[in-house]
Amino acid sequence: MEQLENSELAKQLRCPSGAVGVKVGNIMYSSNSNMIYKTIDRLNFKGGGHILELGFGNGHHLPYLFSKDKDILYDGVEISETMLKEASEFNNDLIKQRKVALSIGDDSGKLAFMDKTFDSCFSINTIYFWEEPSKYFQDIYRVLKSEGQLTLAYIQKDFALKQNFVTDDIFYFHKTEWLIRLMTNIGFYNIEQWQYMENTTNKLGQSVVRPFVVLKGTKL
Ligand SMILES: C[S@@+](CC[C@H](N)C(=O)[O-])C[C@H]1O[C@@H](n2cnc3c(N)ncnc32)[C@H](O)[C@@H]1O
Repeated sequence: MEQLENSELAKQLRCPSGAVGVKVGNIMYSSNSNMIYKTIDRLNFKGGGHILELGFGNGHHLPYLFSKDKDILYDGVEISETMLKEASEFNNDLIKQRKVALSIGDDSGKLAFMDKTFDSCFSINTIYFWEEPSKYFQDIYRVLKSEGQLTLAYIQKDFALKQNFVTDDIFYFHKTEWLIRLMTNIGFYNIEQWQYMENTTNKLGQSVVRPFVVLKGTKL
């Protein structure tokens, strides 16, 4: 990815597109897989729940998700047609079994699901592209069942702002305290956070020690 301009890489991270987008999707998965698995480890599986994910990328993590509970139903929403195609091909069997449904959404924050549909909603490395996270939180709250949980994972703001490809026309980084306040205002309670440090490679292939947070709240 070193050949990509930083601004082009930023756009591709926000919405991978075309042949370059396929490559970006693979790089995202390899550099984020530890973070993705750690986030899935924090989800509560109670046997056969209905799970929503926003921003599933190339969807290579779905076998890990289903290894936690083979009876879940999963809906994934993406804004990238390229990621939708990649994830659909990779998870073809789960889709045929009607355990997985993947769809395209938009970035309005509105979700095309009925009220109180999901037991759990999670989103990893995607909140950076939400100009107004409260819009998303409100609609996620609406589609969660009572006691349903929202789990977010994101790289710490101070670290993220030092990355060369982070341009402020594409990315929005938020402090954990601010996100907790937003979630609390919307009605989430019992908000828990876990902080991690991991060795990984960044999108330019350089080794980095990266701090990330998993934040989880429950709908009243
Ligand atoms: C940086 S990638 C992260 C992918 C994966 N979750 C990971 O951690 O590797 C962000 C993904 O979220 C998608 N995305 C961005 N904004 C979105 C939105 N508003 N709703 C759903 N998906 C979105 C992008 O298309 C992209 O695939």
